[in-house]
Amino acid sequence: MDSRAAGVRGNLTRQLANAAMGRSDVISLWFGEPDVATPDFIRQAAIDSLNQGETFYTEGLGRMFLREALSSYLRKLHSAGPSPERIAVTVSGGNAINLAFQCVLREGDQVVTPTPAFPNLQSIPALQGAQVQTVPMHYGPQIGWQLDINRLVEACATARAVLVNSPSNPTGWVQSRDDQLALLAASRRYGTWIISDEVYSRIYFDGPVAPSWVEIAEPEDRVLIVNSFSKAWAMTGWRLGWLTAPTSLMPTLERIIEFSISSAPAFTQRAATQALTDGEPFIAESVARYRHNLDTIEEVFAGVPQIRFLRPPATFYAFFEVEGVRDNLDYAARMMNEAGVGLAPGTTFDPHAHSWFRLCFAQSPARLQSALQRLQDFWQAE
Ligand SMILES: Cc1ncc(COP(=O)(O)O)c(C=O)c1O
Repeated sequence: MDSRAAGVRGNLTRQLANAAMGRSDVISLWFGEPDVATPDFIRQAAIDSLNQGETFYTEGLGRMFLREALSSYLRKLHSAGPSPERIAVTVSGGNAINLAFQCVLREGDQVVTPTPAFPNLQSIPALQGAQVQTVPMHYGPQIGWQLDINRLVEACATARAVLVNSPSNPTGWVQSRDDQLALLAASRRYGTWIISDEVYSRIYFDGPVAPSWVEIAEPEDRVLIVNSFSKAWAMTGWRLGWLTAPTSLMPTLERIIEFSISSAPAFTQRAATQALTDGEPFIAESVARYRHNLDTIEEVFAGVPQIRFLRPPATFYAFFEVEGVRDNLDYAARMMNEAGVGLAPGTTFDPHAHSWFRLCFAQSPARLQSALQRLQDFWQAE
């Protein structure tokens, strides 16, 4: 019998991007990361830490100074927040998702999650033996992406865990507080675990932070909250994140961290602490740049008749439809080869999104302008 890993779907965007690696003629907008390096003040904290010889194992749940910094960062940002004891430092958001599922899944359990979605959100529980079921979101040209919350609430009766990614990659959809409360009530009623992936919580255009489960979950609610330093502080290559869990789960979490990563590196934890303490101006500047880029995209797309696009309230992704496209893999390959622009095909996120594409606009305005000009020329010539 094949291993579970043999049955897990590969990432379609990765396959395309591999073909373009090293090609200077392609402007790549397929991956979800800012095109700027991590700010100097964050890098310097890591350099200082290394120079001081902080090269040893650390505590399994992370350095207490970082867990305390995370707790006070969250409490400042939200009306409430977890104590440091309920926060585990992880080596990335992806690692936090893996740990969250390892903590709660039993063999054959059902996990339910909305789509379109970042593909890892289905692959990670599948790799751990879960039966993953999806709840498709609906798209209306005037209202954007909508989730039928009743379907998720109903799913709580049988599912072991519900995974929600808000703000969502790729759609930018944001879950409302009312929907969160409905789901929390269902979790309390049925004992279902809620895993909330909030890695884009700071890339939000309607306020300092998107509605978070941090604000509503009590310390013993069955809620696990995933976050990451990757997106908001431009630290994708550092591999650092955190997981907020109920108090009673922390000993389990500590045990299983020992079996995989043992502990996050000391010097990256110093850098992360600096990011939390001094990073607000960087986040504000980044969000202002993304808002400006979104204005540009909206303007350009409005002039292309075959494009359907609605401005998202969060994230640095434009998820849009090109009317008439049937095979988005072939079309993405053509955009790469003929226009010189790399976009992620929609079927990476949803097997039915054959005419959809995701563009990451965490770019310098000049780079984005060049990419949009190339796309406009390509669409005009069609
Ligand atoms: C929705 C979502 N969750 C988690 C991650 C993982 O982020 P990282 O592992 O870099 O912290 C990503 C990265 O693209 C993402 O889009």
